[in-house]
Amino acid sequence: MRIAMIGTGYVGLVSGVCFSEFGFDVTCVDKDAAKIEALNRGEVPIYEPGLSELMVKNAARLTFSTDLAVAVEEADVVFIAVGTPSRRGDGEADLSYVYAAAREVAAAMRPGTIVVIKSTVVVGTTREVKRIIAEAAPDKDFSIAANPEFLREGAAIEDFLRPDRVIVGVEDERGEQALKTLYRPLNLRQTPIVFTSLENAEIIKYAANAFLAMKITFINEIADLCEAAGGNVQDIARGIGLDNRIGAKFLHPGPGYGGSCFPKDTRAFAALARRLGSPVKLIETTISLNETRIASMAERVVAAMGGSVEGRTIAILGIAFKPNTDDVREAPALTLIPALQAAGASIRAHDPEARESAAPILSSLTWCASPYEAAEGADALVIMTEWNEYRALNLTKLSELMRGNVVVDLRNIYPLEEIAPHRFDYHSLGRPDALRPRHSDGFAPAPPRQVGGTGQA
Ligand code: UGA
Repeated sequence: MRIAMIGTGYVGLVSGVCFSEFGFDVTCVDKDAAKIEALNRGEVPIYEPGLSELMVKNAARLTFSTDLAVAVEEADVVFIAVGTPSRRGDGEADLSYVYAAAREVAAAMRPGTIVVIKSTVVVGTTREVKRIIAEAAPDKDFSIAANPEFLREGAAIEDFLRPDRVIVGVEDERGEQALKTLYRPLNLRQTPIVFTSLENAEIIKYAANAFLAMKITFINEIADLCEAAGGNVQDIARGIGLDNRIGAKFLHPGPGYGGSCFPKDTRAFAALARRLGSPVKLIETTISLNETRIASMAERVVAAMGGSVEGRTIAILGIAFKPNTDDVREAPALTLIPALQAAGASIRAHDPEARESAAPILSSLTWCASPYEAAEGADALVIMTEWNEYRALNLTKLSELMRGNVVVDLRNIYPLEEIAPHRFDYHSLGRPDALRPRHSDGFAPAPPRQVGGTGQA
């Protein structure tokens, strides 16, 4: 079976390369000629562990082209994996790229083609794509399917090749058989492949992302509560996560979720639900809590530095929205850095991969080649992204290089015992050492309460 993958963004490129790993011939198509030329030279446009190795390994089955018509005409299955960015103003997903691709596919496809929507699309989009294709090519018979992708940046290959489940919305036997064939390599691992309606597949994708965004926001609130009550959020996450109904994953507090998916998808989901007259209030609240949290991180750093950062130097470790990616879309660091600069701080930044993508967005800061270089002469150091190389820093060296001693660890990557022997004024999230932010009216919060110390049950 031959595949055309329209769109070489994160999802399209990873899916295309992984289907070639499954043994299929794949043509990845993009309008961006420079990107296709680079891919043909073997250059991967994104930093994703394992992707370039897989491209080299499957080179014989992989083609990169700007010619959509040829790729589609030769294909048995056409995936549409173009972007669905947030529309300015209302937050709804901009589906114009999906619909434009559908029209081009309709013109070029052979009768009997299976057209699969892999882009993250709101409910009703796949059916609209079907209508567009049927209208544009009334005499061509085709099948439609919705096959949302659940891969995470930084772990994309693993997620695609070893997923928890595959979700496929189909309408006919031919579509179902084609998708069964494509995912057959997963049978060995007994991966559940759920066949359902087009609408269900679309809602599952948004509901999954919204649930995970909510879970993160929940633990962020519990971390704040721990700071007020004197608890330790890591113990609490473990305590609740051991309940299988809750699960231990996605219970790590942080500066707020970012990236190209959760912020955009939760906004699109909420906007669509509002339009349908069935608002999803939990998700609306999640969105606003997360935005507030990201914006409040600068205040935390300022408070940790005694109430002012004017004329101070701050080292920022990590710009990417998460480790193992160079993606800085909606990264909390992009909010934190300008806010600290506006408050008078100078920034020395380091990220193992994201410098190139962040450089055009951030200005007037010093880029450093290592976390130690960033720490040189800094009054404070803020850990924004939990890159592995930040987990085992030489703390003695770090404290010698720094001018000040404030460390704000917004990912809780350091065990308190490891920090204790050093001279750091260490602040993390929802742990006993944690900074208790001042109220906006300037009053310091009440000292931590002794939980469970009253002898009452
Ligand atoms: C997310 C989902 O995890 C994928 O399943 C989905 O396919 C993808 O969106 C998508 O829709 O394409 P991704 O955005 O790559 O994947 O990254 P995540 O690992 O989910 O992290 C998202 C954000 O949440 C990051 O800013 C991360 O730092 C934050 N996060 C995650 C936390 O703050 N705490 C956690 O416990 C987990």
